[in-house]
Amino acid sequence: MNSHDIKTSLPFPKSFWTAQQTTPEFPVLKENHKTEIGIVGGGIVGIISAYLLAKAGKKVTLIEAGRLINGVTGHTTAKITAQHSLIYDQLIKTLGEDKAKQYYDANIDGLESIRQLIKELSIECAYETKDSFIYAESHYGKRKLEREAAAYQTLGINGELTKENSDLPFPIKEALVMYDQAQFDPVLFLTALVREIIRLGGTIFEHTRAMEILKETTPLILTENNSLILCKKIIMATHYPINDADGLYFTRLSIHRSYAMVTRATGKIPEGMYINVEQPARSIRSVQGKYGEPLLLVGGEGHQTGKSSQKTIFHYQDLEEFGKKYFGGQSPLHMWSSQDLQTLDKVPYIGQMTKQNDTILVATGFNKWGMSAGAVAAKLLTDTILGQKNRYASLFDPTRKKLKLVDTKTFLWKNTSVGKDFVVGKLKRPDKKLSDLALDEGGLVSIQGEKVGAYRDEQGHLHKVVPVCTHLGCSLDWNDAERSWDCACHGSRFSYKGEVLEGPAVKPLPSSDI
Ligand code: FES
Repeated sequence: MNSHDIKTSLPFPKSFWTAQQTTPEFPVLKENHKTEIGIVGGGIVGIISAYLLAKAGKKVTLIEAGRLINGVTGHTTAKITAQHSLIYDQLIKTLGEDKAKQYYDANIDGLESIRQLIKELSIECAYETKDSFIYAESHYGKRKLEREAAAYQTLGINGELTKENSDLPFPIKEALVMYDQAQFDPVLFLTALVREIIRLGGTIFEHTRAMEILKETTPLILTENNSLILCKKIIMATHYPINDADGLYFTRLSIHRSYAMVTRATGKIPEGMYINVEQPARSIRSVQGKYGEPLLLVGGEGHQTGKSSQKTIFHYQDLEEFGKKYFGGQSPLHMWSSQDLQTLDKVPYIGQMTKQNDTILVATGFNKWGMSAGAVAAKLLTDTILGQKNRYASLFDPTRKKLKLVDTKTFLWKNTSVGKDFVVGKLKRPDKKLSDLALDEGGLVSIQGEKVGAYRDEQGHLHKVVPVCTHLGCSLDWNDAERSWDCACHGSRFSYKGEVLEGPAVKPLPSSDI
């Protein structure tokens, strides 16, 4: 039996970290509001920034479109590490040794700052120091690891080739370790900081979507229900900046999707945190269950958004098969997906959003490694606001120009690809009719010659939307595992009812009345 024949549907995905969330709930902003620092986005960057700024005596207001810590931060594998797969050999070639070393130092500082906060505030968040490994199963992958190991030596990174110390249950050709990294539960960690923000006098609103940033004498955030937040400075920490036309961010970010699940396992769960070199991507770590029991987390199956050759549901099934084969993994207890943004040179954009305006700051493009880099971003943005020097400012400067030819080529290829999606999506005609949809099935259907996005829920109710992204108008694709409408152009996602799940889009999909 082909693994793709196992199931036809899966339960609605929910991440391990958000499933037992006890973060306090906050009200919706219903009137105009005045603050010093407005923070848009309740993930790791927004929450740590709010905490640091409130601690420094600033009046901060954080708004989140949904619930706190339910975006990318709540849907990660939660490794806190400077080992970002294979990156240092490439950074030396594209940015030079100094910048590559700064990138490592910054991420180690990010890890240390999380460790320090956990210690200072006695936060219980399943934090564990772990070694982090990249492993190769092919000769080709082994050669890549050898080049990366040479970069570790050049930069003085605390790691080495160490095939014999891997505790994986299958043969590998080589492994590269980075010592003393960490893993944790980001929701527990950030929930403790949320309580501190409130204790320090900060203000938080949930279910308060920022629709627009108005650049008046001082910047204003316009929310979904037309409330205005008057600020001196704004931190845009929404994963994908909603005001992406400023600085043309939508031309400088590519989107990648990956999947993860947590299962019980009858086999031995590795001690270290692992990621492979080859495709399909595999990420492995342990997590602590509710009663401290060890569980297995497997992630991977990454692909550029909208560029997968198979349906979403099969990515989950392939991960489940992998866990079962090597670790005695059982049925998934939790599973989830995430979208990550990559910048042109793989270094996040953190700092002033555009050269012309020093009141709006941004942090985006963490390329799957947003835990350590999220903490780096929060510190850098806080330092910028407080007028303090930060030695990583120029490395992460979003307006940096020094991109090498190799980055520009990748950039052009990705943009050409987005343009193609835009056109092909518009021309694609649905091959289904409404009557073809079974219970819990969705897709593009043709009604009276018009293309409609439809989902028939488990009770048989039909939900019909106009399947055109409200960001810049690309056609949407049905995601069968998450029951969402996804945009391959810049990664916006909408629920089957049309609500915005992920930006940059801020407006819901209109219902279709055909
Ligand atoms: Fe940009 Fe859809 S067109 S996210």
